[in-house]
Amino acid sequence: MALIHKFHIQNGDVTYQSKFLRSDAYVQGLEQKRIVMSEFGTTAYPDPCKSIFSRLFSYFTPMSRPRTDNGNVHLMQVGEEYYAHTELPYIRKVDPRTLDSGKLKVDYQKYVAVNGATAHAQNDTDGTVYNMGTTYGKNGGYCLIKIPPPDKGEVENPLQKASIIAKIPQKYGAFPNYFHSFAMTENYFVFVEQPFYLNVLKIMAGPIFGYGVDWAFQFHKEIPTQFHVIEKATGKIRTTKYTADAMMTFHHINAYEDNGHLVMDLCAFAKMDAVFQFYLHNLHTWSKEEANAKLGDTDNYIARFVLPLNVPEDIPDDENLVKLSGTLASAIRKDDSIYCVPEILTDANFDLPRVNERYNGRKYRYIYGTDVYVCPFRLVKVDTETKEKIYWSEENCYTAEPVFVEAPNPTSEDDGVVLSAVIRAGEGKSTCFLLVLDGKTFTELGRAELSQPNKVPMQTHGIYVANM
Ligand SMILES: [Fe+2]
Repeated sequence: MALIHKFHIQNGDVTYQSKFLRSDAYVQGLEQKRIVMSEFGTTAYPDPCKSIFSRLFSYFTPMSRPRTDNGNVHLMQVGEEYYAHTELPYIRKVDPRTLDSGKLKVDYQKYVAVNGATAHAQNDTDGTVYNMGTTYGKNGGYCLIKIPPPDKGEVENPLQKASIIAKIPQKYGAFPNYFHSFAMTENYFVFVEQPFYLNVLKIMAGPIFGYGVDWAFQFHKEIPTQFHVIEKATGKIRTTKYTADAMMTFHHINAYEDNGHLVMDLCAFAKMDAVFQFYLHNLHTWSKEEANAKLGDTDNYIARFVLPLNVPEDIPDDENLVKLSGTLASAIRKDDSIYCVPEILTDANFDLPRVNERYNGRKYRYIYGTDVYVCPFRLVKVDTETKEKIYWSEENCYTAEPVFVEAPNPTSEDDGVVLSAVIRAGEGKSTCFLLVLDGKTFTELGRAELSQPNKVPMQTHGIYVANM
């Protein structure tokens, strides 16, 4: 169940607060003392009050069952409002001051024709929020959703004025592409159609056999990856077909335009093992050595793709169309597409990436992230120019996504601090502290330990809210 955490920093004091998101899944689960809605890797327990026949009947009408609104992935910001988000269509407003939730639940499906949207919406500089969703079925596809900035004082519904500005058709009807995020630059979006599919038939049949959504994932390494470039101003999908070798990604890092090229950095995997590493039974039974062996075998790397935006007709097949200096990425004409080979910025295990948000969509240099594929986890800073990496780690400590907070009147891109909520395990109990690192040197500036024992679970994504 989604637990919203907050570290509140004011006048040199740090206070910690957490509250469960009052989702329908949480409230009904408490009332009925069971998991009532299936989750990503967990199937709902059947209602003991139902007869065997009605339970069997409900298995054959799986789409009629309520889908979870347990917003445990990320928070989306629209104007001054915050919404707990998964990849299903339901979002729920959270008050960042009190962490109260429950009053406002919004369903994407009532405003735009999607069956779900990513938990990684992109906030543009003018206050517009963009997200990508999926429509399942015969005429299914991947939809770019535009959420205009709310009017002053307008708080009731962030999706009231939402619209779909582009739709990329789905190639295989019963196998929609799974994606977790997308790229945005000043003038373009990039949708990565990776050969990582959801088998809709398995999603529907999963509850019969006791499987969660994870059972429906399929990675097809024989199918190339395709990049779709969408123009921000018009929603027009560019006709140039960009392809790459099969890969999968959860998190885009950043993207920008540079001299007629579109540069796109992302955390890539050559295989899908990472999806299945974090099952509870693995975490309970693996030794540290086993965990490091399994997690280290995820073939994870930071890929920089460079897409030439203007491709002349008469270019010979073997000519590298990437004319940017200082990159090893290439792109050549191959059959009916532009085949892109990425530059591997670092082959270190790396995920949960963040950058200085002022550089989102713009040329940038530094990436912060967490190495979640080694025990204990490490925080990493990557210099994309020198390829230098700096780490922070501590015995038995498991770090969450590092959030960069810029200094007032900054003198450089990395002038600021990096915040991360850290779980310290061991001795049968865990404690938590907020870690503050120098954004340049990655040295520790301070930490705020929880003074009272508290059950703090593992954390992933986080946001910084100033002047609350
Ligand atoms: Fe994510």
